[in-house]
Amino acid sequence: MNILILGGGGREHSLAWAVKQNPKCDRLIVAPGNAGIAQIADCADIDILDGDAVATFAAENAVDFVIIGPEAPLAAGVADRLRDAGLTVFGPSAAAAQLESSKYFTKSICDAANAPTASYARFAQAGPARAYVQEHGAPIVIKADGLAAGKGVVVAMDSATALTAIDDMFGGEFGQAGAEVVIEEFMEGEEASFFILCDGQTALPIGTAQDHKRAYDGDQGPNTGGMGAYSPAPVLTDAIAAKAMAEIVNPTLAEMTRRGTPYHGILYAGLMIKDGQPRLVEYNCRFGDPECQVLMMRLGAQALDLMLACAQNRLSDMQVNWADDHALSVVMAANGYPGSYEKGSVINGLDSLPEDSHHMAFHAGTAEKDGQITATGGRVLNITARGNTLQQAHARAYAMIDQIDWPEGFNRTDIGWRAL
Ligand code: AMP
Ligand code: GLY
Repeated sequence: MNILILGGGGREHSLAWAVKQNPKCDRLIVAPGNAGIAQIADCADIDILDGDAVATFAAENAVDFVIIGPEAPLAAGVADRLRDAGLTVFGPSAAAAQLESSKYFTKSICDAANAPTASYARFAQAGPARAYVQEHGAPIVIKADGLAAGKGVVVAMDSATALTAIDDMFGGEFGQAGAEVVIEEFMEGEEASFFILCDGQTALPIGTAQDHKRAYDGDQGPNTGGMGAYSPAPVLTDAIAAKAMAEIVNPTLAEMTRRGTPYHGILYAGLMIKDGQPRLVEYNCRFGDPECQVLMMRLGAQALDLMLACAQNRLSDMQVNWADDHALSVVMAANGYPGSYEKGSVINGLDSLPEDSHHMAFHAGTAEKDGQITATGGRVLNITARGNTLQQAHARAYAMIDQIDWPEGFNRTDIGWRAL
């Protein structure tokens, strides 16, 4: 079959890498892709937020199956448009993607489903929001309601920070995404990510991971989109995963179906775990980045069968075959990320790296220029390895990093520390 993947980051490189290994995959196209993806797939320059453009491209290229990587096309209704055109699509409708695109929507679903999560209040004006913070004190969490490219959450350890965040959000820092603000109770505990495929009927857990959001070693420095990840997440034991399914995920899916907007695709539940009890931090309606990279490294070719069965409402026939293995991914970012950084620096040493079912250098933000790989983004490479133990995966990933010559980039040296 001909397969189109939408997106151009490390997540999509790992999806393409897994899909490509499956004999069901004939032609593989990724839009827009990047320099690493171009080594294994055709890259197409189409506007992936434009459902009509994607539908036309899919028809012209005899595409059978579309996998949507990032949240923006989902929130823009691209999955709906493609399904209307008769395509088989992996990804939720815009209505179901509100689980990611509106924090308040998710809170209201949790209320209806009685799912454990932080207590909250929702505001459309700064005055009452400031009064709420003054009443409740810190620590407290301030969230722009809408999509803000992962930057719309401020975990405020003191009231002054919380009040500044409120003023910034209502002052337009995130545009329309900050027109409403959700203020939440600060939850303590250990965070982990839980990934569940859903086809509107069946929910199939496919793995767990943990990422590292802070830029620097020791979980210091500014928040980022994620500086590294590993799978599985030891804190998400089978018992806690079962609890999360029973108390959070299944009631959420039932409520979505009851509202006439059943959820199709991957549901990424961010959980806070304390004393054996999981609580929901947030949902995402896509694979995490870089969590996807470690999941794909472990799932390999079966990822395509699972995503296809999900899109065709056949999940009840499927099971996930896990090896007793571990994967770890280290993000290499441009110096300065997540602040301002230079683009265009040359990365050397990638050619000599191993590329097999235990080692992959996934590209997140790269382009090819005059035969050289250059950095085009903040997060640039995801050096990913698999092993029988997390220690082995860790050693393999960092051995690859030692071979990469890129003075304009940096990486954390302690990915996986909690589990190691
Ligand atoms: P989100 O975009 O909702 O995932 O928030 C980003 C990060 O902020 C999460 O991964 C958590 O580390 C943190 N966070 C969000 N909400 C809370 C909360 N209620 N309590 C503690 N930390 C939170
Ligand atoms: N790594 C966090 C995310 O993808 O949202």
